[in-house]
Amino acid sequence: TTSGSNAGLSRGLWSSRFAFILAATGSAVGLGNIWKFPYVTGENGGGAFVLVYLLCIAVIGVPIMMAEVFIGRNGRHNPITSMRLVAERNLKSPVWRISAVIGMIAAFAILSFYSVIGGWAASYVGHAAMGDFTGGTAESIGDLFGGLLASPVQLLAWHTVFMALVILVVSQGLKGGLERAVTVLMPALFLLLLVAVGYATTTGHFGEAVSFLFTPDFSKLTIEGVLIALGHAFFTLSLGMAIMMAYGSYLGNDVPVGRTMVFVALMDTAVALLAGLAIFPVVFANGLEPSAGPGLIFQTLPLAFGNMPMGDLFGTLFFVLLLFAAWTSGISLLEPVVEWAEENTNMSRTGSAIVVGMLCWLLGIASILSLNVWSDVTPLGMFAAFEGKTIFDLLDYFTANFLLPLSGLLTAIFVGWFVAKESLKADLNLHGATFALWLNLLRYVTPIAVVIVFVYNLLG
Ligand code: PHE
Ligand code: NA
Repeated sequence: TTSGSNAGLSRGLWSSRFAFILAATGSAVGLGNIWKFPYVTGENGGGAFVLVYLLCIAVIGVPIMMAEVFIGRNGRHNPITSMRLVAERNLKSPVWRISAVIGMIAAFAILSFYSVIGGWAASYVGHAAMGDFTGGTAESIGDLFGGLLASPVQLLAWHTVFMALVILVVSQGLKGGLERAVTVLMPALFLLLLVAVGYATTTGHFGEAVSFLFTPDFSKLTIEGVLIALGHAFFTLSLGMAIMMAYGSYLGNDVPVGRTMVFVALMDTAVALLAGLAIFPVVFANGLEPSAGPGLIFQTLPLAFGNMPMGDLFGTLFFVLLLFAAWTSGISLLEPVVEWAEENTNMSRTGSAIVVGMLCWLLGIASILSLNVWSDVTPLGMFAAFEGKTIFDLLDYFTANFLLPLSGLLTAIFVGWFVAKESLKADLNLHGATFALWLNLLRYVTPIAVVIVFVYNLLG
């Protein structure tokens, strides 16, 4: 068959559109929403930044997400094979699969350090539950975080726990693993988030947080802020990592991709905004700095929780929420490479998950050591642009600023310019003005925006 429509159906499909939505939302909702979004918003002046970010999601994020799902569903294989098949069906060179290769390398590299940070979340569940934050001072809580980062043994233990959780789910396959996990974790995550927001309303500083997040002050918006918003739109929707290709490969042909991905993007955005509404009231109530940066969640918040009524309980719930969010994202990072290994080696799904997961775990050790023993090791330090960057920093930097945009750009160009329009229309079930809008965003707006960010980042 050339349409690819029914090929590979035997490999299993999500049992419903809803299951796919949960899984895609599970991938999208992660540390990016709960940890990064609040602090970059804080650093970039609040409301105006949020507005630009929403625009980036709508005009760049959603169209690329649709393109990735199209490739996966049309190819019905792992991302690399799917990309090759789609290219061949359109009489184009199979070399386009390079965009999936880049995406999968990025997914693998990101998971190696994402798991380390996921491990922090796991360890903080323990700290919060044991009451370690109770009555804490900025110093005691700083010491707690510093102690974790300084200890390779602790970091390794929690990294191992996190990676094991991810491998466990992915090894069980689509229905018994991924689907089962997200069906439990995602509703729990939403519930916990609502509880956290509810708790935030009791701090007496809720209004302040609302106006911080939603009152645009364009004087605080810089060009750099706009670029950060665009980069974050990519990261938060899990684009450029072949994830949506892998998840799309299990999506039924009757599911309308456009509406579905718009919904996923809305859910992801809703979680980011709700996370802001949960975190900033606590920040303001304690006279803390909203622009505290990456430490906001692991230092600022525990300090607040340690000194508030029922703070131990809500602190524990908060870190469980963070752990669940990171877990479902970790699963999605492992899936593309495991899907590939399963289809291209003689390993089973379980074997693939264990082998790929263990390799990723090994690479993660480099990030762990970067935080302590190897904190002075800067492999590219001879170049001014990479001065002082540890292995952890470099993995983060190259994936976020180089591999993701490159993979996303190639995908947008390939789907926008080289796939037959009839095939896109039929597969995505888009017509008339909606199709034209999507295609034009993908053909012009996305590549131009990505190239601008790319060049800007390269120039440092
Ligand atoms: N989208 C996730 C987030 O916002 C991050 C992520 C990136 C997840 C890559 C999976 C893959 O945190
Ligand atoms: Na996200």
